[in-house]
Amino acid sequence: MPMPLIAGNWKMNGSLNLVESFGQALTDADLPSHLEVALMVPFPYLESASRALAGSRAALGAQTLSDQPSGAFTGEVSGEMLREVGASLVLVGHSERRTLFGEDDSAVLARVRRALEAGLTPVLCLGETLEERDAERGEEVVIGQLEAVLDGLEAEQRRRLIIAYEPVWAIGTGRTATPEQAQAIHAALRRRLARYGDGLAEGTQLLYGGSMKADNAAELLAQPDIDGGLVGGASLKIDDFLAICQSAG
Ligand code: G3H
Repeated sequence: MPMPLIAGNWKMNGSLNLVESFGQALTDADLPSHLEVALMVPFPYLESASRALAGSRAALGAQTLSDQPSGAFTGEVSGEMLREVGASLVLVGHSERRTLFGEDDSAVLARVRRALEAGLTPVLCLGETLEERDAERGEEVVIGQLEAVLDGLEAEQRRRLIIAYEPVWAIGTGRTATPEQAQAIHAALRRRLARYGDGLAEGTQLLYGGSMKADNAAELLAQPDIDGGLVGGASLKIDDFLAICQSAG
């Protein structure tokens, strides 16, 4: 089984004060010894977060990156820049990027490639909408999103991904997938990873995201194919985030 990982995604929230508080809390926390922790903060906070988390076990991540290495792309941020300010992970294909910013599967693949080139670990996010689930197409959609990326990578690159399943209907809605619903998709993802051979199924961390909270995390994380969580709203409250981390122990 891969190591458990709890990753917080602040989205466009937080402040420099919150960065400092989290840095202190994660440095002082007595986290389960085998747990990996990461925090994905907005771009302007990365450098401060890198310093604030330096004494903790938490890794630092960004929430997106450009599909270009450098150049005249006003407002964009490259993978190399993220590395330079201390990030080691980056979210790619989050449903908010897919739906609000029009990132389709080919845009997601391009960003995954750029992340890998920059030495970052991409956290590839997948998930179906409510309409797709109601039409019983949830698994098909998620597997399609997975294959669109895996088929465009070399075997060595596939081994460097983390995957997060985030049903769109459960994000920020308070409506969590049941542990059984989440496990069923995770198991399907694991089976599909197995088709690529190379130990991919056993070695890839599969995170669940979507209204994961202190009071439902343990049940979700107890599922055999759920290796961790990608936590949105609850990652902005130190006590809640630490409680979720403890649930993974
Ligand atoms: O990246 C995190 C997910 O979008 C989940 O967000 O925990 O606020 O539902 P949420």
